[in-house]
Amino acid sequence: MNREIINQALEYVKKIFENDYSGHDYFHTFRVFRMATHIAEKENANLEIVQLAALLHDVDDIKMSPNTHAEKANARSFLMENNIDEITICEICQIIDEISYAGKESVIPKNLEGKCVQDADRLDAIGAIGIARAFAYGGNHNRLMHHPDIKPNMDMGKEEYNNHISTTINHFYEKLFRLTELMNTCTAKDIAKARETYMKDYIAEFMDEWEGIK
Ligand code: ADP
Ligand code: NI
Repeated sequence: MNREIINQALEYVKKIFENDYSGHDYFHTFRVFRMATHIAEKENANLEIVQLAALLHDVDDIKMSPNTHAEKANARSFLMENNIDEITICEICQIIDEISYAGKESVIPKNLEGKCVQDADRLDAIGAIGIARAFAYGGNHNRLMHHPDIKPNMDMGKEEYNNHISTTINHFYEKLFRLTELMNTCTAKDIAKARETYMKDYIAEFMDEWEGIK
């Protein structure tokens, strides 16, 4: 496998995410890259495709880069500049298109490589880091941590999921606690189960403190 292009991609994303504090920083991409590699090795997926899709999965994110989102223009031009063939470029762009969470309109990636990257991205939204990312996102978007009268909406499609405004605690119910059963690979599901237990303990503690029980 061509290690040089992976290094180039690492440098490229470091530059793109230089000033991002919304939860899509370089370190998120790096963790997804590392976890996707781990899952791909266990599941015997094509490593080069998985690693490139993981590294480029957020460079055309709809929130950060709405103008390049549809065509995956950033990912595409990086891959073209690095002489990746058109078939592989399309495969990587399709994976990037399939992985994002969209409420009940989320899709299951068609091939094993997409499944590995989607699992890795979702694993970074749960566990200790997932909790931190959720509250960082809430702060960045001026959201309340919790409001007892605002209930989670468990039945949103893509449009509504992307546009609704709620509390960070509701995000745990609307997305984070649902991710374990959506994991595609057994490798990811095992990791997700442990992280979910940790998050549930955390939310139970949060609620006890909120109610003044502790
Ligand atoms: P990704 O596809 O990389 O997980 P997202 O944009 O869906 O990216 O989310 C980035 C991070 O912000 C994730 O950890 C996610 O759980 C968190 N996040 C997204 N939406 C919300 C929200 N409404 N409230 C709290 N955290 C959120
Ligand atoms: Ni991501």
